Amino acid sequence: KRPAGAPDKALAQKVTKVGVIGAGLMASQFALLFVRRLQVPVVITDLDQGRVDKGLAYIAEEIGALEAKGRIGSDEANRLRALVSGTTDKADFSDCDWVIEAVFEDLAVKQQVFAEVEKHVSPTTILATNTSSLSVEQIGEKLEHPERVVGFHFFNPVAVMPLLEIVKAPATNDATLATAFATAAKLRKSAVLTADAPGFVVNRLLAKVMGEAARAVDEGTPVPVVERALAPIGLPMGPFELIDLVGWAVAAHVQDTMVSKFPERFYASENMHALSKLAQVVEKNKAGKVTDFTKEAKK
Ligand code: CAA
Repeated sequence: KRPAGAPDKALAQKVTKVGVIGAGLMASQFALLFVRRLQVPVVITDLDQGRVDKGLAYIAEEIGALEAKGRIGSDEANRLRALVSGTTDKADFSDCDWVIEAVFEDLAVKQQVFAEVEKHVSPTTILATNTSSLSVEQIGEKLEHPERVVGFHFFNPVAVMPLLEIVKAPATNDATLATAFATAAKLRKSAVLTADAPGFVVNRLLAKVMGEAARAVDEGTPVPVVERALAPIGLPMGPFELIDLVGWAVAAHVQDTMVSKFPERFYASENMHALSKLAQVVEKNKAGKVTDFTKEAKK
């Protein structure tokens, strides 16, 4: 059955090579998914070789884990390993027909990254953005061919979460949208088409939950109590544990975007930024996660 809003799948373009910009955790997770489900070459890039190597190491580790669990055989594991490569030169994207970015959540950075890619790829190469709350229209507006830009938003952990938000900007053409839906189906994700509005659907709702959880803390309820209070209503994890999972910088960014777009509807918590700083200290000291300090909440 054709998903709501998806164009005729006959319009979908072939995806024979994928370029991934950003080799952070989210990008590495979906790079692995692309290679596993599409079985095409996947090349990842980042600002420097160190970051690229970190992404490649994550992917190699996860392929090893799939093999160890018996989810894939050793032939398949070797095939996947051979299909993944890294580069610091976007010219290596020249034969990609699908490029997806997950770089820092900053509009100017994303615009600049796509402008640079556009110099190297064909005019019909799809440029997908994994932005969690920025405008897809604005990300593409400075390009020569904005009609091939589409939002393609994964959720953490990518391997497990079934949802994918596909975002159509006013300029996005049907071939691009059809390719996005066809690709989502190959990745075995359940795709929904959302409006190009701040936070799309999921982050709009999550930002409310996280903002109100932060407000409860600001009002004097301790973090572990907020976590414990929410567990019995069926959330798979408390709001702060979820922020640990998606990353404090990302969560604080989503919150800031929502507050700047809808100041009367969203809540900016100083505590959230303070906890975001604590998360950086925790990460730097390899001391686990912020919510390790709130383990009591789970007892
Ligand atoms: N990476 C890869 N795989 C993971 C994983 C991770 N971080 N965490 C868990 N898994 C896998 C496990 O390996 C396991 O796989 P197998 O069955 O193959 O062994 C499977 O998931 C289940 O693991 P657990 O038994 O440990 O999982 P659980 O029952 O405790 O559930 C969870 C873990 C799926 C993360 C669950 O707690 C959950 O659904 N949490 C909510 C996640 C969520 O809401 N994500 C959306 C965040 S918003 C976002 O990402 C968007 C944004 O733009 C900020």
